[in-house]
Amino acid sequence: MNIHLALSRFLKRYPWRITAAVLLGAGTILAGIGLLASSGYLISAAALRPPILDLMVIIVSVRFFGISRAVLRYSERLLSHDITFRLLLQMRSRFFRALSKTSASRLLGFRSGSLLSSITSDVDELQNYYVRVFTPVIVAVLVTLTSFFFLRAFSPAAAWITLAFLLLNGVAVPVGVRRLARGLGARQRHLRSELSHLWVEHSQGILDIRLYGLQNAYIKRNKELCSEISRLERRQSAVTGLHDGLHSWILFSAAALALFVTAPLVLDGTLSGVMLALVVLSVMASFEATQNLGTAFQYLETTERAAESLLSLTGGVLSFEDRDHTGRDLSDRYKDDNRPAKESGTSNAQAAASLVFDNVRFSYCENPVLDGIGFAIQSREKAALVGPSGSGKSTVVNLLLKFYDPAGGFVSVGDNKLADIPADRVRAMIAVVDQFTYLFQDTLRSNLKIARENADDGDLLQSLQDAHLWSWYQGLEKGLDTQLGEHGKQLSGGERQRMAIARALLRNSPIWILDEPTANLDTITEKAIVKTIRQVTRTRTALWITHRLVQMDYYDRIYVLENGRISERGRHHQLMRRKGWYSDMIRLQSNMLQEEIETA
Ligand SMILES: Nc1ncnc2c1ncn2[C@@H]1O[C@H](COP(=O)(O)OP(=O)(O)O)[C@@H](O)[C@H]1O
Ligand SMILES: [Mg+2]
Repeated sequence: MNIHLALSRFLKRYPWRITAAVLLGAGTILAGIGLLASSGYLISAAALRPPILDLMVIIVSVRFFGISRAVLRYSERLLSHDITFRLLLQMRSRFFRALSKTSASRLLGFRSGSLLSSITSDVDELQNYYVRVFTPVIVAVLVTLTSFFFLRAFSPAAAWITLAFLLLNGVAVPVGVRRLARGLGARQRHLRSELSHLWVEHSQGILDIRLYGLQNAYIKRNKELCSEISRLERRQSAVTGLHDGLHSWILFSAAALALFVTAPLVLDGTLSGVMLALVVLSVMASFEATQNLGTAFQYLETTERAAESLLSLTGGVLSFEDRDHTGRDLSDRYKDDNRPAKESGTSNAQAAASLVFDNVRFSYCENPVLDGIGFAIQSREKAALVGPSGSGKSTVVNLLLKFYDPAGGFVSVGDNKLADIPADRVRAMIAVVDQFTYLFQDTLRSNLKIARENADDGDLLQSLQDAHLWSWYQGLEKGLDTQLGEHGKQLSGGERQRMAIARALLRNSPIWILDEPTANLDTITEKAIVKTIRQVTRTRTALWITHRLVQMDYYDRIYVLENGRISERGRHHQLMRRKGWYSDMIRLQSNMLQEEIETA
């Protein structure tokens, strides 16, 4: 079971602490047995009124076991908590690290509520593996064996009876309890994650929920989930209660039977009568070892489920950062696009800002998107990648940023294959402005500084000025310390896109990718933003991705992406002469504009 392997890997880091904690745990229970056994003996022996000196040793033993039990228990708890917190820290940081290395697009498939509950409760659940599953089982085995050999010295029959009842209590009962509680843990986890999803969605969509009068549906669903959860909790408690009842019943039956088989030994003189209480009390005390195994089995299921869901979340990282990649030479098909930088007289720094896709193939799982596309953009050129919606334009960006690994062909930036450049270097060279600009619930300063950590206020203000946010900025009372609110709610669509431009400016990347940066904007704002971007990318390489074909004679090269291939390539006037998607689209758009003017 690889889940147990994964979990025990965490435990392996603290071999000495865990050994000590297990020994202290076993020691505590054994001291309990010692305490009851010696007290039983002391009471019986004292009843015969021997000289007090004869009792000194046993009195000291009672004291010793009493004190040592408390000391051992205290140390065991201290150490166990220490281990638990260390494990929790490790698990949380490992999980978070794995999560942030997972490709961003992978996480999009998960609902934020489930993610939230995974990050918090699933990780917390894992700590139970050590406290409630791992340690109790080992302690139970140690104590069962010790008490068996101890009892055998006095009454072999009682020893065997105890062993049998301990197995019943430690194995048969927990297995039965687990069967009764089967699925309860998984179902509760599922419902809790549903609940947190509901709450997250409710708080994020509160405006639309009110607007469309959906409050009652949410209230009803919340009530359903809560009552189902408490129904399951009640069932779980009933199972726990049954388990506790069985535990007591088995314990007293074992004690009664042990008395029954040991009494004849006293009668025929094999065993001294004062030992009888010692035997019976030891039997009772040894059941402390198996007391918690029922819960161990219950927690086993919940920890397994939690571990499963965490592993599924972080498993299979998709980027190819650490892998070897051997690309082939550029094919001849688009030789023209790829004039060597030196021949055209560009400097090395500029050569570093060129982009090449060579025969790149790519599919999302079974869904083929790119079927051998090739194009090249020289340093400082302005290129456009156009094509129908869903044709794979944004996928080109995902490959360029190393979020995914091409299935064939290669991508290169400057003189290097992408596979040979570390992902963070690639991402530093390429600035992306797309239609969704994520703003953090933080100050304007922090939102800008994510682009360049060591930027001073002067740099930040300069970037705001260049991104044409200056007049907006001057209206802010708190300047750079202004809070932008959750998801930057206090900004208009145009302002948010300008924030993205300001960030890209701070990055100072030589290559800019504009993936439909104006898709969510009105026409007037769109024009202004396009103008700003064209200004700031004058000395840079820019790849514009769009399905709206306006002012197309601006571009040095235009590529049409259709059905997974580059179907047309050239400048605006060249493409207009061909009868393809491009000229059709331009005509369609101008007809639509005409219609709009006529109906107006
Ligand atoms: N993360 C993803 N997982 C699976 N399929 C995806 C993913 N992203 C995009 N797709 C699919 O790949 C195709 C191309 O998408 P995309 O590159 O976003 O197109 P475009 O940007 O040209 O509109 C679409 O059919 C889309 O449904
Ligand atoms: Mg897209």
